[in-house]
Amino acid sequence: MVRLAWDPSMETGNGTIDHQHREMVELLNQAEAAEDRGLGDSEVRGILEQLAGHITDHFTMEQDLMQQTDCYPPEALEGHLEEHRLLTDRTREMILAYRAGNMDGVRPLTQFLWNWIIRHEYETDRKLVECIRQQEGLTAGADSQG
Ligand SMILES: [Fe+2]
Ligand SMILES: [Fe+2]
Repeated sequence: MVRLAWDPSMETGNGTIDHQHREMVELLNQAEAAEDRGLGDSEVRGILEQLAGHITDHFTMEQDLMQQTDCYPPEALEGHLEEHRLLTDRTREMILAYRAGNMDGVRPLTQFLWNWIIRHEYETDRKLVECIRQQEGLTAGADSQG
């Protein structure tokens, strides 16, 4: 089995965001491993439910961060939220398809999410992290001027 391997080039530079992305990748691996070991549907389903919960919590955390920053433009916020909404809906649909036996194993879902996470973090999450950095820089500058 080929593991979906995290590597440092995938880090955004924000510890909390990176940690949660890694946890999601780990759950994708666990779901595939459970299927490969023939552990049966209920085990895989349990992991997929954990994954869906992680995704929801992660998006809530990022959305809070976006709202706390002054430098994240409203149109970027809307676009980012829309990506999160689409992914949440698609994940739910795919989990239901898996549970109904309408999917050829778990990999259509895990590979979809793997590709999505990589693209989203490179194109979208990094802009948020950049904005947080700028804001921290401005705050630090203001503080040091007293
Ligand atoms: Fe993210
Ligand atoms: Fe995001």
